[in-house]
Amino acid sequence: MTPANPDAEPDWDTDRLDVLLASIWRSFEAGCRNRTSAFRNVVVATTGTDGRPNARIVVLRAVDGETGLIEFHTDARSAKVGELTRSGAVELLFWDPVSSVQIRVSGLATLHEPGSEEAARALAPIPDAGRVKYRTDPAPGTVIAAPDMLDQADAGSVVERFTLVRVHAQAIDFLRLVDGSQRRAVFDRRAGLMAAAWISP
Ligand SMILES: Cc1cc2nc3c(=O)[nH]c(=O)nc-3n(C[C@H](O)[C@H](O)[C@H](O)COP(=O)(O)O)c2cc1C
Repeated sequence: MTPANPDAEPDWDTDRLDVLLASIWRSFEAGCRNRTSAFRNVVVATTGTDGRPNARIVVLRAVDGETGLIEFHTDARSAKVGELTRSGAVELLFWDPVSSVQIRVSGLATLHEPGSEEAARALAPIPDAGRVKYRTDPAPGTVIAAPDMLDQADAGSVVERFTLVRVHAQAIDFLRLVDGSQRRAVFDRRAGLMAAAWISP
């Protein structure tokens, strides 16, 4: 893989698969750094406990193109944690409306539980304002009598709830559909190999 220059613009029109893959990971990196990036928020799809798909948005927190890692943070009490405990199979969906780029990442999620070394390391740089959601009671998904019937007083609970989710990307499906440029490519890193191919959109 070509080393990614973090300042280069993504080259979605390239005819080179390695350049395209570098653009993909560079865009994910921009999503972690830049609040206005289209790659800041990603849809995470899991398999619900009833076998039905469940999808929701999370914020992209860290990525590593070399190892194929994508990280997000969540609350240990949320439904997705229970689902990922049963099955780590996930699909991440990115969409950039400006460049008309869709990127699907299929992978396996590893949960780093509250209080674990990895979760503590991820939590350390997060300021108080970013921790409020982990202080909120009752638990996500609980029925409440009114929208503001929430208690955010228990600061000590943050460490007991903050969960790091690390997705190990196994395959990436890139699609760009614009007039004059329609291209789709797949990258597969299973079996320790990085196979890449152009495919029909
Ligand atoms: C813009 C946006 C960003 C969000 N970021 C996160 C996030 O980083 N982590 C998270 O757990 N939930 C995040 N959420 C909330 C989730 O989409 C979801 O509603 C919540 O986590 C409960 O999901 P679950 O019941 O499927 O576990 C975000 C929602 C929005 C709209």
